[in-house]
Parts: sequence; structure tokens; C-alpha cells
Amino acid sequence: MDLFSRIASKYDHIIKGFDLETIIHDFPIYENDLMLDLGGGTGRVAIPFLKYVNECLILDRSFEMLKQAQAKSRDLLLVQGTSDFMPFRENTIMQIFVNDVLHHIHRQTETLRESYHILKNQGTMTIRDYDRKYLGNIFLLIFEKLLRFGSKFFSPQELKDQCMEFGFTVNWKRLTKGTYLLSAEKNLRSS
Ligand SMILES: C[S@@+](CC[C@H](N)C(=O)[O-])C[C@H]1O[C@@H](n2cnc3c(N)ncnc32)[C@H](O)[C@@H]1O
Repeated sequence: MDLFSRIASKYDHIIKGFDLETIIHDFPIYENDLMLDLGGGTGRVAIPFLKYVNECLILDRSFEMLKQAQAKSRDLLLVQGTSDFMPFRENTIMQIFVNDVLHHIHRQTETLRESYHILKNQGTMTIRDYDRKYLGNIFLLIFEKLLRFGSKFFSPQELKDQCMEFGFTVNWKRLTKGTYLLSAEKNLRSS
């Protein structure tokens, strides 16, 4: 059982609350569409999103994390699976959010490719993560190494370059000194 499955029932107590209101204006919101919360775990992020979008679907590889989400809300759609091979057809999803997940994903390149594949044209993948190059994150990097998470962090510019290789149009902004929000739009005209 992986670490997230082992700590699932305590996850929301360990990780501080998620304040969607502070970043919601940085999102392209498609209120009539479904939002895919990739690696959404216990629904900490998806539940506040229900106010803004038609439906929220969490895909997570941990069944235990998904069980927590199910106990909190009956309005979420839940799928157990992995980000590099998702059970969705090409061009079907308009918005994907990836909060505090990308650095945990082992097959990152395949995940970015798969996300591009399932997004509709002009659909957006928004990624919030920690900047590898910010010195203050060194403790987080060491902590996750000690826990043998196998985490791989990007700087926003490195992630931008990766996303552009798949044909995404990319913008990013710094949220705090150590975190960033990157928006990658599938833009068939530019690829
Ligand atoms: C730090 S938690 C973040 C959960 C949620 N996004 C949040 O902000 O509360 C990371 C989550 O990513 C999931 N995860 C890690 N690798 C994954 C993968 N390859 N595919 C799907 N989920 C994954 C874990 O099971 C865990 O629930």
C-alpha cells in the first residue's frame, strides 16, 4: 500500500485547508463542463470547485484516498486510475486541475501527453506545484526524499518547456515565492 493510501484517513488533518477563492480568478472556468481533478485524492480541492463547474471528477490511483472523498460528498464522480493512461476518450475533457500532484507522478512525460490527448481543443490543464529552484523549498525536497516518495519537481520554466513540446500554449504565474500556477492550453492551431 502506498503512503497516501496509508495516511488517507488523516490526510485532511495533516495538509492545511485549500483556499480556492484566492486562485479561482486565475482559472479559465467552463461552468457547463466537467472538471477533472487529476490526483484529487480526498476531494479537498474538488468539493469547493463544485460551486463553479457542472461536475467534478476525481481520478486518483489510491482507492483509500477516493474513499475519503466519497464519504464527504455524493456529488463527486470518482475513478481509480493512473494519470499516464486515463480511461477517457480523446478530445472529451475541457478542464483539468492538478494540485500538488505532478511532482508525485512517476510517469510525468506520459501524463502530460495523455492530458493533451484527452483535452478538447482550447481545453486547459492547470497545474499548481512547488518550484524546484526556490531555495526555501529545500526542506520539502529533502523531506519527500526521506519518505522515498520518488518526487520530481520542476521549475515553472522547465514545466513550461515540457508542456510546449506537446503543443500546449503555456502561461504561468507565481502564487507565493515557492509555488506557481501554470496554465497549459491545448491549441491545435499552434501545434
Ligand atoms: C499530495 S496528494 C494531493 C491530493 C489533492 N490534489 C490535494 O491537493 O489535496 C497527491 C495525490 O496524487 C495521487 N497520485 C500520485 N500519483 C498519481 C498518479 N500517477 N495517478 C493518479 N493519482 C496519483 C496520490 O494518490 C494522492 O492522492
